[in-house]
Amino acid sequence: MKDKAAEKIYLNGITPVIVLDSSEHAVPLASALMRSGIRVAEITYRTAAARDSIKEIRRALPDMLVGAGTITSIDMAKDAINAGAQFIISPGLDAELVEYCSREKILVIPGVATPSEAQQAVKLGLTLVKVYPAEILGGTAFIKALSAVYNTLRFMPTGGINADNLMEYLDVPSVASCGGSWLCPLKLIEEGKFDEIEQIAKAAVLKMHD
Ligand code: 3PG
Repeated sequence: MKDKAAEKIYLNGITPVIVLDSSEHAVPLASALMRSGIRVAEITYRTAAARDSIKEIRRALPDMLVGAGTITSIDMAKDAINAGAQFIISPGLDAELVEYCSREKILVIPGVATPSEAQQAVKLGLTLVKVYPAEILGGTAFIKALSAVYNTLRFMPTGGINADNLMEYLDVPSVASCGGSWLCPLKLIEEGKFDEIEQIAKAAVLKMHD
């Protein structure tokens, strides 16, 4: 993958999807992920804490690649990039948002859920897309069907992925990384149980390297 951020996402194999209600948790959580061997994080822009969380992680953990998720408008992308986001993830495909990020030279990974959207992603010059919501769309069978016809695309399935089906997805050659929230349950974050999160993440990393 020629994009550095995309290459890092691919090398990590898992992209944790993180919802934070307080930016105080951002650095302890990202540190726990790093101790487990995961050096990429998607902070969802669904809470008011997202912006500061990205800022804090960028400041404290320069080796972590931090992106913003659930970006659904150019204004949100602008805000996230200003906060320090190194990549942008969107649940859907919006040509204007993709073009904006391309102009800003920031990796954008929009979601596709149909062949038409995959085709449009290719037309927009993309090589990495999210498949969302992966399990509902048909899981690995859906991704294999898309890969057969859009063979320049690599996929980041998200939605319904967990420790049990992770390897099924990662065994598909066109899957670059699996996104998922299962590594960082909100309850454990709120209770400050970052060691438990580290163990969940470690277990996933061990599975990948088995
Ligand atoms: C997202 O927030 O991008 C997805 O809802 C994550 O899906 P999951 O919670 O099933 O991993």
